[in-house]
Amino acid sequence: TGFITLDDGYVNTGSTTSKITYLDGEAGILRYRGYPIEQLAENCDFVEVMYLLIYGELPTEAQIMDFRKSIRRHTMLHEDMRSFYDGFPRDAHPMAILSSVVSGLSTFYQDSLDPHDPRQVEVSIHRLLAKLPTIAAYSFKKSVGQPFIYPQNDLSYCENFLQMMFAVPSEPFHVDPDFVSALNLLLIVHADHEQNCSTSTVRMVGSADANLFASISAGISALWGPLHGGANEAVVSMLEKIIADDMNVEKYVKLAKDKTSKFRLMGFGHRVYKNFDPRATIIKKACDTLLAKLAIKDPIFEVAQRLETAALNDEYFIERKLYPNVDFYSGVIYRAIGIPVQMFTVLFAIGRLPGWIAHWKEMQGSPSKRICRPRQVYTGPTEREFVSLEKRG
Ligand code: CMC
Repeated sequence: TGFITLDDGYVNTGSTTSKITYLDGEAGILRYRGYPIEQLAENCDFVEVMYLLIYGELPTEAQIMDFRKSIRRHTMLHEDMRSFYDGFPRDAHPMAILSSVVSGLSTFYQDSLDPHDPRQVEVSIHRLLAKLPTIAAYSFKKSVGQPFIYPQNDLSYCENFLQMMFAVPSEPFHVDPDFVSALNLLLIVHADHEQNCSTSTVRMVGSADANLFASISAGISALWGPLHGGANEAVVSMLEKIIADDMNVEKYVKLAKDKTSKFRLMGFGHRVYKNFDPRATIIKKACDTLLAKLAIKDPIFEVAQRLETAALNDEYFIERKLYPNVDFYSGVIYRAIGIPVQMFTVLFAIGRLPGWIAHWKEMQGSPSKRICRPRQVYTGPTEREFVSLEKRG
């Protein structure tokens, strides 16, 4: 079987070549298709970034018009899919609903499941991009017992999502433009991050020629984990706990350093960024601006800043190069927009969707594509004789 290299957590293993996202963890650089994240966050709309990631170039005016039109056409869910929601318990986590309903798309669109047919792939991509916000908003409406709000296609991608989340049929709804820009920015900075856990999952599942819906559903499940996308929810729960504990920031910094406690500062540290996370810098600034503009005094923001200062001045965190990551301040913005905490990771999934799709597509189109099948180093028992049931014990 030859020589097997062991690399726990794939710290040094390149799983693929890729033309999508460039990341330099030492220098804190992140670029999508060559464009610095700061420039995209400043100038783009999330739908343009989707296009850039998936098709490789920023769209021309004609291309983006067509793309937006096609996405609008697919925003509605099949009416029969609404009954999925009846089967879930009211307190179901929306990430569980999201991955199940996305997987369910493959039962409704059996005409577009062939990963080798470019026309089928294209229509599944548009369907997914269009329907994920609808699926997500319905999961929230289900949890609060409100009627589902249909997508409204004269609204932008972000406006539409916010109206499906917060509108009720009995009242006129106005989408706050500051919320729309904040959401747009958050989705852009989450849109891709090369071979992270969920993206690698999408590639791994897709490498077996599983269809796009099945592959993305697996990615959503991976993202749910608190060490990955689930961290944004965990950050706010942690900050709330600190507030309730007399804002005793030092106590939690101490706890995070104590290896026997198993407690980690959520929203701190990153496998690749060892200097700063450029996404966190962008988000912190946006958070500052939004809270000032809305004149919101959220103790969560204050405790987050105090925790950041305490950790950044602590030997333990300095030595290990642990800095706030993308998830540290995103939750504060989501709260200001009115997004409930259990929806935070769902928002991450909506942001990461174009990245997952771009990677799935790149892999499918690669001439060197093979099924992903890592090896192992076996450490179990050597050969032994079978023992019958009555002789065991
Ligand atoms: N709090 C306290 N100690 C930490 C933390 C933390 N948040 N993160 C890492 N460490 C320590 C860890 O205990 C280890 O110490 P030692 O060398 O003494 O054993 C050292 O730092 C290296 O950590 P690691 O676990 O080997 O690093 P990793 O690259 O395997 O894990 C991570 C990266 C992001 C999973 C980890 O830093 C972590 O658990 N952070 C908290 C969860 C979080 O915020 N996740 C979001 C990541 S960014 C968005 C995303 O990917 O979705």
